[in-house]
Amino acid sequence: MYSKIAGTGRCLPKKVLSNADLEKIVDTTDEWIKSRTGIERRHVVSDGETTGTLSEHAARQAMEAAAVGPADIDLIVIGTTTPDQVFPNMGCLLQARLDIHGCPAFSIEAACTGFIYALSIADQFVRDGKAKCALVVGAETLTNIIDWSDRATCVLFGDGAGAVVLQASDEPGIMSTHLHADGRYKDLLYFPSGVGQGLDSIREGQNAVRMKGNEVFKVAVNTLGAIVEETLSANKMTRADLDWLIPHQANIRIIKATARKLGMSMDQVILTVKDHGNTSTASVPMALDVAVRDGQIKRGDVLLLEAFGGGFTWGSALVRY
Ligand code: UT7
Repeated sequence: MYSKIAGTGRCLPKKVLSNADLEKIVDTTDEWIKSRTGIERRHVVSDGETTGTLSEHAARQAMEAAAVGPADIDLIVIGTTTPDQVFPNMGCLLQARLDIHGCPAFSIEAACTGFIYALSIADQFVRDGKAKCALVVGAETLTNIIDWSDRATCVLFGDGAGAVVLQASDEPGIMSTHLHADGRYKDLLYFPSGVGQGLDSIREGQNAVRMKGNEVFKVAVNTLGAIVEETLSANKMTRADLDWLIPHQANIRIIKATARKLGMSMDQVILTVKDHGNTSTASVPMALDVAVRDGQIKRGDVLLLEAFGGGFTWGSALVRY
């Protein structure tokens, strides 16, 4: 038994913030942001939009594309670092929004790699016969925990949600997933507040995402290069067998470095970083949905999904769409 992607969906907040808008907020330029990151604009939540509302819309789209209803879903796994509440977990909150009852529902916190972790877990459930129709979501509203006076981070991030429906299938589907983490790097990319520091530390608004961008960059390039090799070798495949690379959309320079290592033309790389910015765990499922809906990715294509984020966490999935 394997799992197969039966439908995809995404939701972006209504409000768009361009690089020109950011020039009015911090000491930055459109030229710096574009040349260092590839980002031109990003969507940010406003007017009651939350991780929950974005997830719900993305999930409904994916369910519609898969032609399944709430009664068909027997597992919900959502990757997010910015849940609406500490608990109930974001999976349960999404379950309630979708009027789904009784199936397991939980969230995974693995920063930008959360969706790949969620996909891997859901795939295991389906392979083990424990689920037949899983909803897998990556959703993030990181702009709520950004320091808008810190030009080193505030220009990078955007919000959004992406979703897939995984269904049991006689043939793959998800061919393999590969997950890694190394907590030694915890101080290079983090959000310092939490229950352990007392809730006042969160309410004060003093805290925000902190990143040693340069150091993260170097580890990301090396790690992503290694994981694409690991994924191909586990499947006895070569670079020539891949149709599409769907990378985490943090920085166009990291994406280009990974494509170069794979010997892939940039025409085979799905890119949303220009319009979405870094949406953390939402970036890979949203990029997948963009490419499916605009007809770039077709049934039967072989896709390599990969992500890297705080923790550090990193992971990949090889998928026959
Ligand atoms: O999603 C999870 C994983 N995250 C990532 O993969 C992100 C990895 N890191 C990166 O993408 C890049 O390191 C950044 C885009 C964050 C930064 O690019 P960089 O080329 O590594 O720049 P830098 O941090 O080395 O900064 C270079 C200069 C500095 O000035 P000095 O010290 O050389 O005078 C910064 O102060 O650029 C300055 N700078 C800016 N200037 C204009 C930093 N941010 C800005 C800004 N506008 N927004």
